[in-house]
Amino acid sequence: MSPTVQKTQDVKGATPAQDVVIEMKHVSTSFGTHVVHTDVNLQVRRAEIFALIGGSGSGKSTLLREMILLQQPKSGVINVLGSDLANLGDIDATALRRRWGVMFQHGGLFSSLTVKENIGLPLREHTDLDDALIDEIAAWKLSMAGLAPEVGAQYPSELSGGMMKRASLARALALDPELLFLDEPTAGLDPVSADGVDQLILKQRDIFGLTIVMITHDLDLLWQVADRVAVLAEGTVQACGSMLALSRMDNPAVKKFFSGPRSRAAQQQADVQHTKNSEKTANTANAVEGPSSKQK
Ligand SMILES: Nc1ncnc2c1ncn2[C@@H]1O[C@H](COP(=O)(O)OP(=O)(O)OP(=O)(O)O)[C@@H](O)[C@H]1O
Ligand SMILES: [Mg+2]
Repeated sequence: MSPTVQKTQDVKGATPAQDVVIEMKHVSTSFGTHVVHTDVNLQVRRAEIFALIGGSGSGKSTLLREMILLQQPKSGVINVLGSDLANLGDIDATALRRRWGVMFQHGGLFSSLTVKENIGLPLREHTDLDDALIDEIAAWKLSMAGLAPEVGAQYPSELSGGMMKRASLARALALDPELLFLDEPTAGLDPVSADGVDQLILKQRDIFGLTIVMITHDLDLLWQVADRVAVLAEGTVQACGSMLALSRMDNPAVKKFFSGPRSRAAQQQADVQHTKNSEKTANTANAVEGPSSKQK
């Protein structure tokens, strides 16, 4: 189904339950005496690009790890793809893991495996496909992530930062997930490589209808691709909305992200992009709502 059909309009009122892919209610997390989350509440909607932002150490990666069953909160409810994560048996947990892909903050590729073997790993773990088919799928995912076929035979240590991110994205997409988690997908990349990753992310949502949850500090990426952004600070979600809505808020925790020169440059660039896209789509009937046509 087209993601533009699936996507819920950002209107006031409750999102229909079938359009909520992830829900966190009153989630609190502590490590010993260190309290990270006190009361996190959020909803991620089907086929949206949902971003989590917040200062370093505010608990973004921890929240993501809780969404993907790598960590349990101290209290609260986390529901993903219709399942309450606290009440999952092993079989249901494995079935659920098969429905999402994850790109970890530090890549998470196995250094002793080639890129192609890394991409094929989720297929080996979760399916009975034979080696030849797994290799074929891995090669296809490699090209989808914008990497040349020969990269498949290379080891992670031989890749540039941008190639590593792409290989890691290819692995996250191996099982054709419905839900994609990206932890800092553009961190450490030069602007051209980062822009390539922006486009890849958009493509996953626009063509394949994936729901995407990403953590990022990259303001360009936020302005270019995020539908809604949740700001995490002091243990809770301080605000959640479009970048435009957040940029107009008075909340000091939110304002911090929009006050620097990098933020203003990113917003100007997004405005230029928006104008170009508006001109392109001006004559198109039924213009779709998406990041490129959003008001920014
Ligand atoms: N397994 C753990 N044991 C103890 N403390 C942890 C653990 N995981 C995370 N923390 C602590 O929880 C806090 C939040 O960490 P987290 O990695 O979620 O932050 P973050 O918002 O992703 O930061 P960054 O932007 O730097 O990636 C940090 O203070 C971290 O030290
Ligand atoms: Mg992190």
